[in-house]
Amino acid sequence: MTIPAKQDTSSSLANIEITVRKPEFDFSDTPEQWLASIEASHFMHAIAVMVPVTEKLVIERLRATTDKISNPHLKVEITQVIKQEGIHARYHRAINTHLVGHGFIEIPLFERIQTALFKRLESVMPTSFVESIPAAMEHFTANISKAVLTDQAFWFGDKQTTDAARFLKWHAFEELEHQAVCFDLYKDLKHSSILFSLSLMLFWMPLSALSTYSIHTYFLVKSKKLKSISAWKKHLRFIRKTCPIFLSGAWKYSKKDYSPWTPNDKQLHQREGV
Ligand SMILES: [Fe+2]
Ligand SMILES: [Fe+2]
Repeated sequence: MTIPAKQDTSSSLANIEITVRKPEFDFSDTPEQWLASIEASHFMHAIAVMVPVTEKLVIERLRATTDKISNPHLKVEITQVIKQEGIHARYHRAINTHLVGHGFIEIPLFERIQTALFKRLESVMPTSFVESIPAAMEHFTANISKAVLTDQAFWFGDKQTTDAARFLKWHAFEELEHQAVCFDLYKDLKHSSILFSLSLMLFWMPLSALSTYSIHTYFLVKSKKLKSISAWKKHLRFIRKTCPIFLSGAWKYSKKDYSPWTPNDKQLHQREGV
């Protein structure tokens, strides 16, 4: 692809090129517990339930703002993110079909509720909020990705090489790229960083934590894994360990010198490079 006349983006300044990759994955033999613990596996199933709807929404919002972007290089990066998200969403739909086939038949209902909620938000909220949706969604997927790629022993244990595990790592790797592109877009549209931080803290953080752990609990109950006090304690310990994924990192966007590609993120990206 030919990149138009160069104007810097956070990713170009970090020497990171957003490209479309097409690995293949087959989830047909994936067992219920495909990560180190049943809690981790059903946590990722809860995320998987929400991802097709949020990725579709991100794609729609990115397409809706393309004409307003002033930076031509950012425009190219956004086109690449849209293509990446399209591939992610296709695999996530396959995962959800697999889960429905294994008895988790309420998944389409969760998707309908989520779609209706987002439609309502888009119709009642101001433009700056609606145009912050990609950056907000990518904040959470980047946080999940960093957690997964940083502490692989906790998430994967010895289950590192199945197609489901490889898919999670690949998806996490590409999500690291989205945070920078979508925050660049938000800034290119001249919206306030402070309002973005506040919207994360007051709205998106509680909503994302509540919805994820509710669906997470649904999966554990439905698969009969919460039948004892000790199982509930284990579940609560998992929530306590993982809740910083949803409740941290909002204020950094308001700092004057904030740059999405921190040395740590760049190192993770380099290490997981595919
Ligand atoms: Fe994605
Ligand atoms: Fe993403």
